[in-house]
Amino acid sequence: MSADSRSLPFDAPRWVSPHEGHVLWAPSYEETPNALLALEERTLDPLLPDLRGKSVLDLACGTGRWLERLMARGASAGAGLDFCAPMLARAGAKPAMRGRLVLGDCLAMPFRPGVADLAICSFAVAYLFDIARFVDEIGRVLRRGAQVFVSDFHPSAHARGWHRAFRGGGSVIEITSSRYSIEEVCAAFADHGLELRQLLEPSLSEPERKIFRSADKGDLFDAVCGVPAIWVAQFQQH
Ligand SMILES: C[S@@+](CC[C@H](N)C(=O)[O-])C[C@H]1O[C@@H](n2cnc3c(N)ncnc32)[C@H](O)[C@@H]1O
Repeated sequence: MSADSRSLPFDAPRWVSPHEGHVLWAPSYEETPNALLALEERTLDPLLPDLRGKSVLDLACGTGRWLERLMARGASAGAGLDFCAPMLARAGAKPAMRGRLVLGDCLAMPFRPGVADLAICSFAVAYLFDIARFVDEIGRVLRRGAQVFVSDFHPSAHARGWHRAFRGGGSVIEITSSRYSIEEVCAAFADHGLELRQLLEPSLSEPERKIFRSADKGDLFDAVCGVPAIWVAQFQQH
């Protein structure tokens, strides 16, 4: 995800599918400091419950950013699911992730019903073009009372010209995505018996300033902070 709308008039973006986009993004995904991921981590981490003895799923786990944290917080079982092999290869380089990674689609999860006490889907829901099917699958794999945390890029950031884009091979690569509103996502969860417990819409602020500075974009920071940059929702299965 990029907040650098200045580059776009000079480089016509190359549009790619979510699968191709993440294949191309995998080598650099964790190399480039990302202010939105930092904001999400400091927003979502304090919401997580005690995970000792719990079974967790990181859906569209990418490089295993959240699965690694969930296991470090004491989860007793966990799996990360993603349809992009190069992302899973990066995840698999982390010792705590070995044996926990599954190549597959979030719209047809290769898990038994009722296996998980908690699931996270971070920065991926907009790539799941059939949201009802995704939520149906989540409902199937969760136990009663289980919690789900979902985060994504905020629609108001889109409206201000931010893009799901990154630089690769000298060009700007933009990944196609759905433009669900937060209300549409919450309604899909409600329709499948997952009750909204909490919705946060944080903005970038001081902790992220150094990331903009290190990317030589310090001047952009004041323009983007104060506007909701991401959303984080917590749902509970009835
Ligand atoms: C922006 S990355 C986020 C990765 C990770 N959740 C994080 O927050 O660091 C989006 C991820 O969603 C995965 N993805 C997109 N559509 C998917 C699908 N239908 N099934 C499984 N994974 C999918 C991509 O391969 C990619 O790894």
